[in-house]
Amino acid sequence: MSEHTIIPVHPQSAEYSLLTPSQLQAMTRRAERDPDGFWLDQAERIHWHSNPTRAFCGSFQDDVEINWYHDGTLNASVSCIDSHLGDRADQVALISHRDGTDEAEKLTYRMLHERVCRLANALQYLGVSRGDRVAISLPMVSEAPIAMLACARIGAVHVVLFGGLSAEAIAERLVDSGARVVITANEIARGAKRIPLKHIMDEALKKAGAESAVETVLVLRTTDAPIAMLPERDLDFHDFVDWFEPDCIPEIMNAEDPLFLLYTSGSTGKPKAVVHTTGGYMVWAAYTMGMVYTHRPNDVLWCTADVAWITGHTSVVYGPLANGSTTMMFDGLPSYPQPGRWWELIERHKVTMLFTAPTAIRSLMREGDDLVNRYDLSSLRLLGTAGEPISPDAWMWYHDVVGKGRCPVVDTWWQTETAGIMLGPIPGAQKLKPGSATMPLPGVSMVLTDTKGDVIEGAGEGCLCVTRSWPGQARTLWKDHARFQQTYFSFSPGLYFTGDGARRDADGYYWITGRMDDVINISGHRIGTAEIEEAVGADRRITECAAVGVPHSVKGQALVVFAIARDEQTSITPEDITRQVSLAIGRYAAPDEVFIVPDLPRTRSGKIVRRLLRKIASGELDTLGDLSMLSDADSVDMLINTVWKEE
Ligand code: WTA
Repeated sequence: MSEHTIIPVHPQSAEYSLLTPSQLQAMTRRAERDPDGFWLDQAERIHWHSNPTRAFCGSFQDDVEINWYHDGTLNASVSCIDSHLGDRADQVALISHRDGTDEAEKLTYRMLHERVCRLANALQYLGVSRGDRVAISLPMVSEAPIAMLACARIGAVHVVLFGGLSAEAIAERLVDSGARVVITANEIARGAKRIPLKHIMDEALKKAGAESAVETVLVLRTTDAPIAMLPERDLDFHDFVDWFEPDCIPEIMNAEDPLFLLYTSGSTGKPKAVVHTTGGYMVWAAYTMGMVYTHRPNDVLWCTADVAWITGHTSVVYGPLANGSTTMMFDGLPSYPQPGRWWELIERHKVTMLFTAPTAIRSLMREGDDLVNRYDLSSLRLLGTAGEPISPDAWMWYHDVVGKGRCPVVDTWWQTETAGIMLGPIPGAQKLKPGSATMPLPGVSMVLTDTKGDVIEGAGEGCLCVTRSWPGQARTLWKDHARFQQTYFSFSPGLYFTGDGARRDADGYYWITGRMDDVINISGHRIGTAEIEEAVGADRRITECAAVGVPHSVKGQALVVFAIARDEQTSITPEDITRQVSLAIGRYAAPDEVFIVPDLPRTRSGKIVRRLLRKIASGELDTLGDLSMLSDADSVDMLINTVWKEE
């Protein structure tokens, strides 16, 4: 398999695409020629209270100001729910399949409207109003999208927190976001494991202390596990919420009012919250999902991403609902209680579009083809991936074994900051190349530059940048616009730098080569090595450390930490360091391997050479390259001995 493999436009293309290849080309040209007109047309995909008359205002220069549809007003929950009540009130909007149960909960658009309105009224009763932040830490159950949409209904800004975060990491985010209300659950079931969500939240609130603005915690009971409730702060979700009226007048928001904050990792230690606003984000969710996932009536889209990530926000909640589709959620694991669990669910719920991460594909692939072939997957018409590079062989397995060669695979490239798909195929209108995220969507102005920021024309390899704003672009970082400018616009003024490298082939197809900064991607989870190093370095027994990502056959990358103990008498073990990272960030960020070493390879100016650490950790010992720039070349032998001594 090579990059020369080309999958022609699938023969049943009429089933997939809303566009012919020539219509797609015309659309791309129009977006280039008349961006304002193009994006105003795309704005019609969602419901506005008052239509915008301008698309983009602002500039990537100087202070960087990004402003879309600024005179439009709307409410995101109206676009996702009320706008469908006329013609599809009784269509299922949300299927929520709980692990360990046989029957899924199915909510029609009418039922979703009622549930969202009750919670919106309850939040208002608790004093939440426009602009207030509400933190949501829930498993993949229907209350998660309901909570997001209820916030949107009253103009509150949701902050969804990943269930794998430690109490310390949650505390930091609660304080930084200034959330007034928390919506959480007693626990999350992950296969046979249980994560005591409420207990972790209690710890987080204790740690945050007076710095936190949290007044109320709504607690959903997802299992029978007992929960300790603090009478003056905690409320049982359903006991409280179900009393409220099933209708709530939506707050009319300006297009540029924030819809949500989402924390993500960058190349410095502190967590940063990306800010997405209402109008542009909603247009972007509807446009990208509509173009690539080509939603139609009776489609059931199952995006397996956690709602706490941008894929969950856009592909589980806002995108499918804005397009009037049926979205499915499942709170279990692919292989629990049996390895064919996902295929069983696709058969049962007649899923038409499956969207998952390459990590999941790689681990399902390991279970063998027979397992997949035991299930009737004929409902599927489209397969998608995002979040990390997919190798051509995993792509082909997904295409041939899961999709039986009938379903196009859409490999989509995007980021928390882009809010939706930037690179991805328009199925039925473009041929596919396994391993390539295809081309920019119409209206996305992607370029490659060299490391000085000069644009590379034609085929070549370089830094992936965007020249023009798009409606779903993050507007800023919460309370830190300077960091926003510095992170994304200082590489080459006037260009948004994604942090990724890519290659463009002679047909204009993009091949992502990976992050160029210190961000690593483990099982689709984005983790900053600086954040890990800060967590490890917080232990006084450590003087210095370095975290690197190395290739891993299932997880994409694995995390390896090298740490120097304060002195030889210090007793610190790799397990201590793993525990330290789990406490500071969460178990999902725990290193795969930790090495306590006497020193690290450095340049003569003292800078740690991470490139060498990566090579040593991944066993690429014959390509270590020139070591003459090191202050002490012997440190390399010492490291090799430490890492590979047991092998
Ligand atoms: C990586 C996830 C290769 C990339 C949606 C990006 C990908 C980071 C792809 C963002 C893809 C995302 N192929 N790499 N199709 N999609 N990435 O913010 O490095 O969690 O910068 O958003 O994931 O991760 P994030």
